[in-house]
Amino acid sequence: MTVHSTSGAGSTEALPRPLPRHVAIIMDGNGRWATARGLPRLHGHRAGTDNVREVLKASVEFGIEYLTIYAFSTENWTRPADEVNGLFQIMAEVIRDETAELHRNGVCVRHIGRSEGLPADLVRAIHEATTLTKDNRRIILNVAFNYGGRAELVDAVRRIIRDGIPAEAVTEELISRYLYTGGQPDPDLIIRTAGEMRLSNFLIWQAAYAEYYSTSTYWPDFGRDELRRALEAYANRQRKFGGILSGSC
Ligand code: IPE
Ligand code: IPE
Ligand code: MG
Repeated sequence: MTVHSTSGAGSTEALPRPLPRHVAIIMDGNGRWATARGLPRLHGHRAGTDNVREVLKASVEFGIEYLTIYAFSTENWTRPADEVNGLFQIMAEVIRDETAELHRNGVCVRHIGRSEGLPADLVRAIHEATTLTKDNRRIILNVAFNYGGRAELVDAVRRIIRDGIPAEAVTEELISRYLYTGGQPDPDLIIRTAGEMRLSNFLIWQAAYAEYYSTSTYWPDFGRDELRRALEAYANRQRKFGGILSGSC
């Protein structure tokens, strides 16, 4: 990945404003992308992984501060073993191949999700990437892998109890801090590719006031231009957070 500019100067067109600080993507449709081409599903996952590089590059260029990508859910374990193992292998390879370049480009890689149950070599690769890049701040890339929003809440509650936090001290702010994303702003924009209109257990707490953008494009084909269209759609939304717009009667 070569990253050019954080100012959006790579494009002649002005960027839509306001920009979301945190964009989260449900990268769906790899299987359908492959099937439509008469290819095995794992080819779709490889193409999808290649596309992460493009979208990350565009996100840096557009000036997005946090990018969260949903790569493997706690429910994806129900898929055939060949697909699950293939996904783990692709993930381990990609992390090993890309970590140095990500680090050079100032990307801070974080893993959100459970490590338990993942193969040891994958856990090691994730640990090496997150440790090496932990102080980078050009963009924070949260990789949701073996991630489930409900599992995240269970893990948060367990840690709260283990830390001996009294019931009266449990607030929304405290719960947010105990999530895998603790300390980060909630996602402003959630993009889902491949047409489904559901969260599939993604960031269920953090997404409370996110704006949604759904496109029928399969993830491997979701490029820079479509990301820009999603940002344009976001810029045209009126976020009210339960209030009313100033100037309304
Ligand atoms: C998303 O693509 C990637 C993962 C869930 C791992 P899918 O594999 O869900 O693709 P479709 O939905 O079957 O097309
Ligand atoms: C959501 O996609 C999970 C990821 C993108 C990693 P799925 O394809 O697993 O979701 P469902 O099964 O259509 O809800
Ligand atoms: Mg899917």
